[in-house]
Amino acid sequence: MRSAPIGVLDSGMGGLSVLHALRRAMPHERFVYFGDNANAPYGPRPPEEIRALTLNTAQTLLKRGVKALVIACNTANSAAGNMLKQRLPIPVVGVEPDLADARERAGNKRVIVFATQATLAMPLYRDMRERLCPEAVSIPAPELVMMVERGVLSGEEPEAFFREKLRPWAVEELGAVVLGCTHFIFLRPVLSSIAPGVPVFDGVEPVIEDLRSTLFRAGALAQSGEGGVELLTSSDEPAIRARMRDLLAAEL
Ligand code: DGL
Repeated sequence: MRSAPIGVLDSGMGGLSVLHALRRAMPHERFVYFGDNANAPYGPRPPEEIRALTLNTAQTLLKRGVKALVIACNTANSAAGNMLKQRLPIPVVGVEPDLADARERAGNKRVIVFATQATLAMPLYRDMRERLCPEAVSIPAPELVMMVERGVLSGEEPEAFFREKLRPWAVEELGAVVLGCTHFIFLRPVLSSIAPGVPVFDGVEPVIEDLRSTLFRAGALAQSGEGGVELLTSSDEPAIRARMRDLLAAEL
């Protein structure tokens, strides 16, 4: 059990940012990543469709003998997290918009949340916002998903996007920005160049802690060995595999 790999899934490239952090935090673990690039983006799809696609990917990873599953996609986790926790015979953890930490850090300044349309519309986020931070401004950002899918991580395109969306506020008015989509983590340096000094929360640390303590309690945490990564995708485009490797190697 200890030496079995951990499954990590996303609609495409975004979860590679989470995988990056997982590898650093858990160097002895082996990871199998599945990007559902053939069906990305998930954000514009209805919840039932996202649920079906996520279940399908989870089953693929289960067949590879994974000991736990990380849903490295806010959209998939919002739609399918509870279902997978109930149905799968292994522990499941999932990333969600980190409104709690953002609220605490922002004081009485503005909290901005960037996420997919689907994440912002689903009960997980709506209830969380209502409970923790009703004044948070939610901004759907499907354009950013597609930039990262295309491998665009810097330059005028993402800069213009953030500049335009944050135009209503002076930088001093911004208390925190929540990246409620794992694709956007790759664009954090661009965001920070447009909104210097504003704290950014991506929800990755809480997932890693959740995974670590779950595996530890189950006696399934790898404590020695080399670790490693296997990258899988539903796409048959060779360029996608090359981009996945580049993104995993990107500096974050
Ligand atoms: N990486 C995704 C997320 O965290 C989903 C992007 C998409 O497929 O629309 O929400």
